[in-house]
Amino acid sequence: MLLHWLKIAGLKLVWVRLFSDCTGRHQGNCCLQRLLMSVMVKRWYRSRRNQFIIFTISIICIVYYICLNDNLQREPDLDITRRNSVIEYIEHRIEEALKEDKGSGCEIPQLDPFAKEVVQFDNVYSPITCKGKDWVKCYLSECRVVDEILRTTTDIECTYQDIIHVSDNKYYLGEHRTVKGNKPYILDASDHVKVTCRGSQQKSLFSSTWVGFALGFRKSVPRLQPPPGREDTLNVLIFGFDSTSKNGFIRKMPKSYKHLKDHVKATILNGYNIVGDGTPAALFPILTGKTELELPDVRKTAKNNGTLDVMPFIFYKLTNDGYRTAYFEDMPWIGTFQYRFNGFLRQPADHYLRSFYLEENKSRKKFGKSRSKYCIGDTPQFQLMMNITDQFLRLDGKRFAFTFIADITHDDSMISVADDAMVELLQTLEQRNVFEDTLLIFMGDHGPRFAKVRDTLQGKLEERLPLMSIRLPEKLKRMRPNVQAQLEANAEILTTPHDIHATILDVLDWSQYMNPFKIKGADFPRAMTLLEPIPKNRSCSEAGIEPHWCACVNWKNVTDTEMIHKTVDAFITYLNELTSSQRSKCWPRTLTEVQWVMSQRPNSKMLSFVSNKDSDGYLGKFGAHTKIAKENYQLKVAVGPGRGIYEASMTYLKKEDRFVINTRDISRTNAYGNEPSCISATHPHLNPYCYCSDYVPQTVRV
Ligand SMILES: *[C@@H]1O[C@H](CO)[C@@H](O)[C@H](O)[C@H]1NC(C)=O
Ligand SMILES: *[C@@H]1O[C@H](CO)[C@@H](O)[C@H](O)[C@H]1NC(C)=O
Ligand SMILES: *[C@@H]1O[C@H](CO)[C@@H](O)[C@H](O)[C@H]1NC(C)=O
Ligand SMILES: *[C@@H]1O[C@H](CO)[C@@H](O)[C@H](O)[C@H]1NC(C)=O
Ligand SMILES: *[C@@H]1O[C@H](CO)[C@@H](O)[C@H](O)[C@H]1NC(C)=O
Repeated sequence: MLLHWLKIAGLKLVWVRLFSDCTGRHQGNCCLQRLLMSVMVKRWYRSRRNQFIIFTISIICIVYYICLNDNLQREPDLDITRRNSVIEYIEHRIEEALKEDKGSGCEIPQLDPFAKEVVQFDNVYSPITCKGKDWVKCYLSECRVVDEILRTTTDIECTYQDIIHVSDNKYYLGEHRTVKGNKPYILDASDHVKVTCRGSQQKSLFSSTWVGFALGFRKSVPRLQPPPGREDTLNVLIFGFDSTSKNGFIRKMPKSYKHLKDHVKATILNGYNIVGDGTPAALFPILTGKTELELPDVRKTAKNNGTLDVMPFIFYKLTNDGYRTAYFEDMPWIGTFQYRFNGFLRQPADHYLRSFYLEENKSRKKFGKSRSKYCIGDTPQFQLMMNITDQFLRLDGKRFAFTFIADITHDDSMISVADDAMVELLQTLEQRNVFEDTLLIFMGDHGPRFAKVRDTLQGKLEERLPLMSIRLPEKLKRMRPNVQAQLEANAEILTTPHDIHATILDVLDWSQYMNPFKIKGADFPRAMTLLEPIPKNRSCSEAGIEPHWCACVNWKNVTDTEMIHKTVDAFITYLNELTSSQRSKCWPRTLTEVQWVMSQRPNSKMLSFVSNKDSDGYLGKFGAHTKIAKENYQLKVAVGPGRGIYEASMTYLKKEDRFVINTRDISRTNAYGNEPSCISATHPHLNPYCYCSDYVPQTVRV
């Protein structure tokens, strides 16, 4: 029997090898191999006994697969095709996780932004340069031919067509209106125009033409009167980049990071953790205070014609409160609220670029093959977004802007090309004293989430730790003197997009709208304003973060005795190496007691997360743990002779199977008294480690 199994195994091996050769680079002699194989295999299959064996193996495989596959399959209540089932499943999972992690707090992993593990994915990008020269630009509501063109071109005639938004999937071009020479075109029907200009270049016989786009702010936006007492509540600017982790921002935007920290004095939230997969999982909570699954189902796949207009987006409250609102997002073909969802029927904000970008993209196919995909006319698209944001903040009245840039970060992490422009925008805002009465939230939605990044532990953690920084308005700091200190105290505590929504409401003096939702069993609401103390013991589950999105690394007692020995041995060896130069004077020390050994670990769900299970990203698919290259350990031991008690932190390099220890991370927790008196004068730095061979302990008083 055994012989037979071996034979089968052998045959399988041959088969696997041949087949893998076929799929590999050696495709030349593949056909012959395949032919031979099929004859061999056919003959082999005809035997009854072999058929039985194959059947048995298949059954074993299936059973094995089912057992291995994670508990999702075994979860009796989960029907992945039903939304309610998914909702209940996730709710239940967070509640179960809360029983384990409640009150345990969160240790935010200390990651080196320049670690090799992640830097390997970064490329160097040259600046984006855009060709040509736009003939027409708009500033606020006036569009006109730019001076440079006026100087070189005569008989200029421009035809403007407004791009008029109907719904997220529908717009039309308005009537042609022709304007001559340097006369302005006033934006009225929309914020954006398609322009065709003709003129005679002085040095050329032929007339030249230009087709392009321009955008500004139409004059005729109806605005409601703010309710009494709310005439001058604060303004808000949320400025976001897609796929930008905190560390990625530090690496790739060094000037902006420095400027944001040192000049703008924004507070960077080191404990800011995502609550789900992708952009919607960040923007729904920030803009509505709820998760996607807590809001009506308006997915395209739900086929119910529902739109996002029914959701409690903050834009609607703001409009009723007399605010001007802007929602600027690029890349409409993968829009946050249009890619998986039916989008908005009415534009959610007064100023909204969707139809502009749709039309721009459409005509690009006709005219603009040679244009860089990152440009709108002669301007990099990200710069246009910054410019329009800046212009919006120059309008009068109360303002709320949400700007979200994706084109330079979504497919490639080339955010570095925007570093200088970002600093410039921040400087402009500062010079205009915008931060006097405007809350700035500068953020990313999540870190890069490509498969190869997710294959590394640091990449995975960075995906979960996006950039989030907050700059409070001066006016608010004067009205509530302790808010800045409060915010800073919360920077090292676990926070989420839900908290950002609560914070915006708090700044707008709208605490009554905060979502009081609590995870069942939790002591605190899921959303907490950053302007008040957030408890240090807040855990992922309490903050509404499922285990596989939780970046916290917690210290756990090591139970593996082999690992305990290894750690302790490495420490004692190191301790003795320190005194080895004085070996004639200092005794070698030996272990007398291990009090504890702990290791710092990310949670295992996070480690085994591979990607999404479903196209909506509601559930995770789990597999083998991501390899951990380095692990942190801490220990507390007592050594003889005498009784020296030490606590130490050390790093274990897995591949090299060795520990890195540094004297800075060792502390002697009891007094060494006169133990090292023989070397104290000559080698004082060895005082905590040396036990002199001539040391006579004083008799202990009983
Ligand atoms: C967490 O800390 C707060 C004080 O900040 C305390 O009231 C609460 O009991 C703690 N929760 C747990 C579970 O330890
Ligand atoms: C969706 O809208 C279309 C036309 O607007 C209509 O024909 C269809 O019946 C609607 N479907 C549902 C499920 O409401
Ligand atoms: C324009 O839209 C299409 C999809 O409609 C998209 O594939 C393409 O990448 C878009 N962008 C550019 C720059 O052409
Ligand atoms: C924005 O664009 C307008 C029109 O081209 C220009 O006048 C203005 O200087 C730009 N602002 C910034 C901040 O780049
Ligand atoms: C580890 O074990 C020690 C003693 O065995 C105990 O005092 C300590 O609280 C434990 N630490 C953790 C994090 O469980």
